Amino acid sequence: MGWVKTIAIGAGGVVLLAGLFVGWNMSKAHKMLAEDYSYVKGKDLPLPQPLPPATAAAAAQNAEADGTKAEEAHAMEGTLAGMHDEVEELPMEPPADPYAEALERGRYLYTVRLGCIECHGPDGSGRLVADALPVIRMAGSNITTGEGGLPEDHPVSDFDLIIRHGINHKGKASIMPAVDFQKLSDQELVDVVTYVKSLPPVDKVSDTPAMYGPVGKVLLAQGKLFQAADVIDHDYVHPAAPPPASDTLAYGEHLAQTCVGCHGLHFSGGPINGGDPSWPEAANLTPDATGTEGMTFEQFQAALQKGIRRDGTQMAPVMPVATFSKIPEPEVRAIYTYLMSLDPRPKGE
Ligand code: HEC
Ligand code: HEC
Repeated sequence: MGWVKTIAIGAGGVVLLAGLFVGWNMSKAHKMLAEDYSYVKGKDLPLPQPLPPATAAAAAQNAEADGTKAEEAHAMEGTLAGMHDEVEELPMEPPADPYAEALERGRYLYTVRLGCIECHGPDGSGRLVADALPVIRMAGSNITTGEGGLPEDHPVSDFDLIIRHGINHKGKASIMPAVDFQKLSDQELVDVVTYVKSLPPVDKVSDTPAMYGPVGKVLLAQGKLFQAADVIDHDYVHPAAPPPASDTLAYGEHLAQTCVGCHGLHFSGGPINGGDPSWPEAANLTPDATGTEGMTFEQFQAALQKGIRRDGTQMAPVMPVATFSKIPEPEVRAIYTYLMSLDPRPKGE
C-alpha cells in the first residue's frame, strides 16, 4: 500500500509544498521521458502476403477436389485392394495458405493471449483503460491506418520496437507496458503484426492519450514507476519460434511472460506498475506462504479464468478474466506448472 499512500500524500501535500523537490524530480522525469533510444533497431521481418484472389480461389477448389478424390478413393478402398498404393498417395490436406494461418494465430494473440485488445480495442482504434491523473492515464492508441492511427507503410521494425522493446516510432521510451511482450518469438511478432495490419482503418483521433501526470512524473524520477524501455534487455536474442508445447516448463515460462506487467518481473506481485493506484495489488504467483503455496490447478484456473479467489470470493475486476477465460486448458496447465516450479518469493520482492 506504500504506493497508494505516496500518491495520497503526493496529490495533497508534496506537490504544493516542496516546490524545489518537485522541480528537481520533474526535470529528472523529463530527462527520462526524453531519453533517446533510437540506437535500438527493430527487426525488419518479412510478412506473409495474402494469396492473389484467383490463386486463393484455385487453392480452395483444389482442396475441395482433393477432398472429393480422397473420399471416393476411400470408398473404393474396401472393394479394390489393388488400388491401395494409389490411395495412400492422394493428398489429404488442403494446400497451406501461410497468410491465413498467420492471421489466425495473430488473431488469437491479439484478442486473447497477449491482451492487446484490452488497450487497443477489438477494432484497433484504442481504448481508455485507466484515468488516474495526476498519476497516469493509460489508453491504447489508434493502431489502424485510419485518421489518428498509423501510416499504411508503418514498418515491421517499428512494430518490433514498440512491442518487444517498448520504444515508439519517435525513438522514445513508450508508456505502453511492453515488458509482457519482450520475449516474443519472431513468429509471434509477425503473426500479431499481420493481424493488426489486416484491421480495417478507423478514423479516431484520441483526446485522452496515455500520459504521466505531475505525480506520476515524481514517482518515475524516484524509481517507483518504471518505463518498459528502461528495464527491457535490448540485446536479448529473440527465438525464431515459441518453444514446443511438449516442453511444458519452457512453454509455460514463455506463456507466463504476459503476466509480468501486472504480477512483476519475478511474479511476486505488489503494486501494478503504470496502473491506476486505486487498483488492488497483484497477487504473488510464486508458491510462497504469501502467494500460491498449496494452490491446486482447479483453484488457479478459477482465479485466472473466472476471477474467483481461493476463498470463493470474487476478485477485483483488474485482471482481464473475460479475455483469459478463452485460453485453452493445455496453455493454462503449462503456465501453472511453470509458476509452481518457481522458488518461493515473499510478496512484492
Ligand atoms: C496496457 C495497455 C496496452 C497494451 C496491453 C498494449 N498496448 Fe500498444 N500501446 C499502448 C499505449 C499507451 C500506446 C501509445 C504509446 C506512445 O504513444 O508512446 C501504444 C502504442 C502502440 C502502437 C503504436 C506505436 C507507435 O510508435 O506509435 C502499436 C503498434 C501497438 N501499441 C501495438 C500493440 C500490440 C500489438 C499489443 C499486443 C501485443 C499492444 N500494443 C498491447 C498501450 C497498450
Ligand atoms: C492487468 C493486470 C493483471 C494481469 C495482466 C494479470 N493479472 Fe493476475 N491478478 C491481478 C490482480 C490485481 C490480482 C488480485 C486480485 C484480487 O485478489 O482482487 C490477480 C490475481 C491473480 C491470481 C489469484 C492468486 C491468488 O493467490 O488468489 C492468479 C492465479 C493470477 N492472478 C494469475 C495470473 C496469470 C497466470 C496471469 C497471466 C496469464 C495474470 N494473472 C495476469 C492482475 C493481473
